[in-house]
Amino acid sequence: MFQGDITRCHVDAIVTAANEALAGGGGVDGAVHSAAGPRLLEASRGIGHCPTGEAVVTPGFELPARWVIHAVGPIWRGGRSREPELLASTYRSILARAEEVGATSVAIPAISTGVYGFPSDLAAAIALTTLRETPTPVQDVILVAFDSRTADLYRDLLSENRANPTDSDPTP
Ligand code: APR
Repeated sequence: MFQGDITRCHVDAIVTAANEALAGGGGVDGAVHSAAGPRLLEASRGIGHCPTGEAVVTPGFELPARWVIHAVGPIWRGGRSREPELLASTYRSILARAEEVGATSVAIPAISTGVYGFPSDLAAAIALTTLRETPTPVQDVILVAFDSRTADLYRDLLSENRANPTDSDPTP
């Protein structure tokens, strides 16, 4: 877990919380586009569309990260529109895109928890569970929290996981 600006992460790939049109935006997407430079928007426009629950990958251009994974999380509509399932699918797609480009370290923001309104506690639990349950060659996943509430949520979930390792967890 890292608390701060994802654009500063020196990893193979950083993730941005994009919209289906890959049109750029505010929040983390605004920060990623301004740090990567205008070629990022050109590259996203070249791809043109990404359905909710999926992710696409472009180069990172002026970022320290070599790749940007543009992940489209669900808009929260009260919880009965498959939002949890779609958020889990977004995290699985991120790992799939990272694997395709050979990225072994990936930094991921709290997708859908800003403008898209997904409750932060539920989103953090889905993020952690999905990342732990998905087989992947990615070695390092950094959960990036921008605000201290999200940082606390991740910290609590990570320490719970350490205190109660599952049967498949090789750590003592
Ligand atoms: N680094 C890391 N995290 C950040 C940063 C940053 N520089 N800036 C914002 N965040 C955090 C927010 O605090 C929030 O927890 O990213 C999380 C996701 O918030 P949003 O960026 O609003 O993303 P989301 O809720 O998925 O909404 C996506 O917003 O900007 C538009 O184009 C985007 O339409 C899409 C929508």
